[in-house]
Amino acid sequence: MSIIEKAAEKLKTLQSEDPSAPEAVSASDQTVPHVAVTPNVKRLQDWARAPQAPAEETPLWHVDLMALKRVGVMPGGDAAARLADELRRIKRPLLATAAGKGTRPVENGHRIMIASAVPGEGKTFTALNLALSLAKEKDFEVLLVDGDIPKCDLTRLFKLERHAGLMDVLTDEQRRPEDVIVHTDLPGLMLVPVGQRNPLAAELFGSQRMERVLQDFSGRNQRRLLLFDSPPLLATSEAQALGTHMGQIILVVAASSTPQQTVKAAIQTLDKAKGISLILNRAQLLAGEDYYGSYYSRYYKDR
Ligand SMILES: Nc1ncnc2c1ncn2[C@@H]1O[C@H](COP(=O)(O)OP(=O)(O)OP(=O)(O)O)[C@@H](O)[C@H]1O
Ligand SMILES: [Mg+2]
Repeated sequence: MSIIEKAAEKLKTLQSEDPSAPEAVSASDQTVPHVAVTPNVKRLQDWARAPQAPAEETPLWHVDLMALKRVGVMPGGDAAARLADELRRIKRPLLATAAGKGTRPVENGHRIMIASAVPGEGKTFTALNLALSLAKEKDFEVLLVDGDIPKCDLTRLFKLERHAGLMDVLTDEQRRPEDVIVHTDLPGLMLVPVGQRNPLAAELFGSQRMERVLQDFSGRNQRRLLLFDSPPLLATSEAQALGTHMGQIILVVAASSTPQQTVKAAIQTLDKAKGISLILNRAQLLAGEDYYGSYYSRYYKDR
């Protein structure tokens, strides 16, 4: 049985327990809506606007890809090519939905949250690598926001602990959201770190100010995707509060480790009006192989 088939089996088991759970299908199955959707490139280009370059005097933050590889959050060699290929397949339907060309209309489809039921399923790994992949898109740019306030792993990975961030603009209405956007030397990639951590993050995420901040993060640039790392859905209330502002939510599920009931409980916390998709992470562990670049993704269809 191939890795993908094994991953599909895993998701099928989930569905057999709960008809509203995601239906397991092969990533190569062209009948799967999200895999079959190919965005209309011309219309995507129409939809996209010219890039908004940062002001000339804004220093660009150096992204040290070698350092990210050294700490293991980015693969190298063959694994990098494999991961890149899988992310390519994963991002197509996300981009189509963001551009309003998905299988169904989704409000704020350009706001995408990477979520998981419990800690350690690969949210930060996915957010980082997906952001780097999205940044390579000609018609889009990506603003990667560290929405995991307690752990702030992305903030630390990019060495932005001392930089103002999301918490600062949420607590201080005088501060302009655009001032906490970090423009990087990787074309198409911008970052928003956590800033001064705040124990009231859930309340701040649920506030009207949060909605205004997100609108400002997007600005008038309709080609900008907002991609959020987040804390685990079942461990904190913050992720659910953050999720209310999103158009698309990707639930990362660690293969062979997260119990079905846990995944189902996480799905129950999500608003089904959003574009919800699942990624089975580390699927190749099922075959006893290196699990870099071992995603298996599908859209959550039963809405
Ligand atoms: N597909 C993968 N290939 C290789 N390493 C991975 C993969 N997915 C996750 N990891 C590694 O597993 C560990 C846990 O992943 P990660 O930190 O992304 O999980 P998380 O869901 O963000 O956890 P938390 O909820 O604690 O923030 C990290 O060391 C990460 O680099
Ligand atoms: Mg994380």
